[in-house]
Amino acid sequence: MTRILFYLEDYSHDIWRESLLKVAPNIEFRSYPDWGTPGDGAAYAFVWEPKPGLLAKYPNIKAVFSLGAGVDHLTRDPDLPPNLPIIRMGDDGLKEGMAEFVAMSVLMHHRGIPSMITKQRNKDWGRFFAPAAKHVRVGILGFGALGQVAAKTLLPFGYKVAAWSRTEKEPVEGITLHHGADSLDAFISDTDILVGLLPSTAETQGLLNKKRLSLLPKGASIVNAGRGTLIVLDDLKALMEEGHIAGATLDVFPEEPLPRDHLLWGLDNLIITPHIAAITRPDTAAEYVMRNIARIEQGNAPENLLDANRGY
Ligand code: NDP
Ligand code: OXD
Repeated sequence: MTRILFYLEDYSHDIWRESLLKVAPNIEFRSYPDWGTPGDGAAYAFVWEPKPGLLAKYPNIKAVFSLGAGVDHLTRDPDLPPNLPIIRMGDDGLKEGMAEFVAMSVLMHHRGIPSMITKQRNKDWGRFFAPAAKHVRVGILGFGALGQVAAKTLLPFGYKVAAWSRTEKEPVEGITLHHGADSLDAFISDTDILVGLLPSTAETQGLLNKKRLSLLPKGASIVNAGRGTLIVLDDLKALMEEGHIAGATLDVFPEEPLPRDHLLWGLDNLIITPHIAAITRPDTAAEYVMRNIARIEQGNAPENLLDANRGY
């Protein structure tokens, strides 16, 4: 019998139990802290931000499913067993959610909504006449599972969409593709709305510092829904205060929740969302996890296996 050890703080586990049992009625679902002992036999873990050291106590875990596409909540555990396979979330619900969030955010920045929210507080009728979408260049950092659906969702509005990845990709109609560190500065210089959908790795941390953010044309905007470590927040704040960057939407932060005394809370033209850009949906995630457990049991590689050398 397939045994799943589930961990998620502060949320009811019932919906997850029900969703998994609906897809696979014969599994054994164990909610933390009722994980039993390693002697109970092989198991799969399905977790979000487990306590450091917890996974190391269960050598019977064959593989870990991350409840999200990001794995930094697992890899920062100093006791994480080095050879434990980690599978990243990649269900359709996550992709659809991110496509909605990116489309909403890009449209809001294109149409000047963050500055109108700021003006509204001052009863200021100041109008903003947005350019046609076909004149707005949207650049997406990261052209993986989420970057690709987000980019495609923007095309029908008429935006000029470009994307940047680490490795070269097959051409995609309507999207200008770039890759590699050497092309980043030119990519940023040609972008009016920059969207971050990168994982947190040694290469991506602090990538958007003052030098790079200053390459954006005056009046550009930023949306970050990948990981908060991408942006040096003090640099972003300074460039927004001096008006070089017109607005930003940040869904992810180096420290979450964003501390209550953080200076970003009071910044004009900034929209803060509490890491909700794409939420893993129990129904589609349950199908994804059970499909991949079946692959592992049949001796095949699961989808979205973490490559520890790449860091994503
Ligand atoms: P993928 O692994 O499918 O895609 C990652 C993309 O980033 C790839 O295109 C990859 O390039 C690119 N990339 C990684 N490192 C570099 C680098 N050094 N230089 C250039 N490009 C790089 O991940 P997903 O699209 O599924 O998810 C992306 C991230 O989004 C997750 O890691 C997670 O942190 C975040 N996320 C945030 C959510 C939220 O609610 N805010 C929800 C879900 C995910 P290449 O294609 O060449 O490998
Ligand atoms: C994720 C996330 O990684 O929610 O999926 O950030």
